[in-house]
Amino acid sequence: MNQRINRSIRVAEPVLDGNEALYVMDCLQSTWISSKGSYIDRFERLLADYCQVPFAVVTNNGTTSLHLALVAAGVGAGDEVIMPTLSYIATANAAHYCQAKPVFVDCEPNYLSMDPERIKEAITPRTKAILTVPLYGHPVDIDPIRDIADRHGLLLIEDSAEAIGALYKGRPVGSLADASSFSFFGNKTITTGEGGAITTANEQLASRMRFLRGQAVDPNKNYWHPEVGFNYRMTNIAAAIGTAQAERLDIHVERRQQVAQWYFEELADYQDLFQLPWAAPWAKHSYWMFTIMMRPKLAVSRDQWAGLLADVGIESRPVFYPIHTMPMYLERSGSYPVAEECSRLGINLPTHGKLTREDVRYVCEHAVATWKSLYRSSSKSLQRAA
Ligand SMILES: Cc1ncc(COP(=O)(O)O)c(C=O)c1O
Repeated sequence: MNQRINRSIRVAEPVLDGNEALYVMDCLQSTWISSKGSYIDRFERLLADYCQVPFAVVTNNGTTSLHLALVAAGVGAGDEVIMPTLSYIATANAAHYCQAKPVFVDCEPNYLSMDPERIKEAITPRTKAILTVPLYGHPVDIDPIRDIADRHGLLLIEDSAEAIGALYKGRPVGSLADASSFSFFGNKTITTGEGGAITTANEQLASRMRFLRGQAVDPNKNYWHPEVGFNYRMTNIAAAIGTAQAERLDIHVERRQQVAQWYFEELADYQDLFQLPWAAPWAKHSYWMFTIMMRPKLAVSRDQWAGLLADVGIESRPVFYPIHTMPMYLERSGSYPVAEECSRLGINLPTHGKLTREDVRYVCEHAVATWKSLYRSSSKSLQRAA
């Protein structure tokens, strides 16, 4: 009980130790606090350069950025968008906002992204786009997916909200699709409080996103709106925080990789109990989250486990519930065994740049001890039932 009072390890925490305060003060003192101002351009340039593409368009969150990318790319009513069921709800919602139908596919079991074989099976004459999700910071195996998209004339969009800093065959996430969307929510590798961005090499798409982001105002005639647009603009204050964060992007990514390394060391002897994150030979994992999965034969209740961790001051988060199980997207006919099992067995341990080696040791000791206590009590109750 004492431990609970003494320790509080959050699952995610922003690290604001660069020029954030300086730049925000600059916005306040100069009164450029709304969505015009120099930090918007600065943040967009830093992001585009980091992702090695010519264009970045920032927005007010990672859901609006994904919606903007889909609308600007031409996804609309009646279209189908193929996407993983194991993702955050915003992935499906963004397609739904376009009146398109999310078509879910199962993931592969190692790095939890869409299985290219399942994508092929999901294509119909209505398919307009493939929406990949590099989950928890591991890139998607994009080359075979790009082939499928090209062969069928489909758009390839990435919901890379969680994966800034990850590399695929040496190429940055953010440069791998026709457009890639990021989130800068407070729990992300870099943050603007709330914020999002799309990176792209397509100039026409970038300018269409800028147009739609600002209420589709005619660039040559103010207050004239030839189309229905959106107010998805980022504020200069948010961009000021983002600029300071992006100036130190490599450091933010390296800190998470260091934390992951500590987890690997602490949990090395427990791999018979838990599957640790896996990185493909072609991947540099950015470890937005460190995800462990109980071995299926040794599973206890994931939620009870998280509850016991909370009792000792450790916040965790479950692997996403597959989207096809949510009421508005309920899909009974499909088969998604891998996503369902990962969701049942998986937990994300605290992963952020403020964690110390000692914090990670504390988390691991308690992750193992709480799992063991649950396992013991569940096997005793099984024996009693037998
Ligand atoms: C995969 C994925 N897509 C989209 C989003 C939406 O981003 P935001 O919360 O900034 O709207 C998130 C946010 O966590 C996410 O994880």
